[in-house]
Amino acid sequence: MSKKRVLSGIQTTGNLHLGNYLGAIRNWVDIQQDYDNYFFFADLHAITVPHDPKVLAENTFKLAAVYLACGIDLECSTIFVQSHVSAHSELTWLFNCITPLNWLERMIQFKEKAVKQGENVGVGLLDYPVLMAADILLYDADVVPVGEDQKQHLELTRDIAARVNDKFGKKKQPVLKVPEPMIRKEGARVMSLTDGTKKMSKSDPSELSRIDLLDPPEAIKRKIKKCKTDPVKGLVFDDPERPECHNLLSLYQILGNKTKEEVAVECQDMGWGQFKPLLTETAIAALEPIQNKYNELMSDRNYLDKVLRDGAEKASITANQTLTRVKDSLGFLPPL
Ligand code: TYM
Repeated sequence: MSKKRVLSGIQTTGNLHLGNYLGAIRNWVDIQQDYDNYFFFADLHAITVPHDPKVLAENTFKLAAVYLACGIDLECSTIFVQSHVSAHSELTWLFNCITPLNWLERMIQFKEKAVKQGENVGVGLLDYPVLMAADILLYDADVVPVGEDQKQHLELTRDIAARVNDKFGKKKQPVLKVPEPMIRKEGARVMSLTDGTKKMSKSDPSELSRIDLLDPPEAIKRKIKKCKTDPVKGLVFDDPERPECHNLLSLYQILGNKTKEEVAVECQDMGWGQFKPLLTETAIAALEPIQNKYNELMSDRNYLDKVLRDGAEKASITANQTLTRVKDSLGFLPPL
């Protein structure tokens, strides 16, 4: 039996933080051997907010090195740049014409990001989840591993697929595969270091709110030293009054590859003065091998170029087959 297919991606908007790593890439790496995987760099998504053309290409390139440094295995995974496969943009247009506007106006991320941008909200920001649906449905993905914040976008993807099938499919022959989200409990929602009720985010103006994957040890030390805590001694999980405590213990647990029970026992009598150096040490040790590999990869541009060229070629073949299937079902005249 052929393997089920996984697809996921990350926006090429600057440095990745621990939320991206623990909510997404780390899970991809853990499951990849059991699936046929497509992981891409969402550069078309990255321009839905104002962007700097001088750094877009370099950010894409760096993200490719990060995927590989984190352990994406090219034996079972194809990695590619979204804008190198034009079917993503084309399918988005087709989906735009069948997606009700009010489905998009309901999206929480749109509302949050739109508020930040005031008068200048681009159409692309509203349309963002439709592009995401195209990303996923082009590859007939069975499973989409993401962090908790993408859940609503995945529901929309499923709704769009169901609508296309309903309107244009034949009973026994759906046009599109309806994918399942895969949201792991652990790491699905990594919170800010400066406010345990807000998720860790690239767009938070304070660098102290997040640990970036490529942060040097000194920066990690400084950020953990300054992170928000509380005056209570004895550290526990799951106390709604202590969101920072839960978040920091969870980071310690996942980065140290420990179980929740082990950490609960280890930290139950600790104060922050004892815990913070432990977390610092654990985070530095977990990120060091990734950073070393990243530096190695970044010094071999030709290799990365080839990986991206091969990835785009393979992804295009799969994506174009689906695009043709959708266009046929919508009744377009095939190229003559
Ligand atoms: P992006 O680039 O914002 O985030 C990439 C991945 O990281 C996860 N994530 C988090 N997980 C846990 N805690 C956090 N604080 C945290 N912050 C981010 C996200 O859930 C995501 O899995 N729209 C997507 C990119 C995308 C995509 C797709 C994903 C475009 N097309 C198709 C899957 C399938 C996004 O903006 O993710």
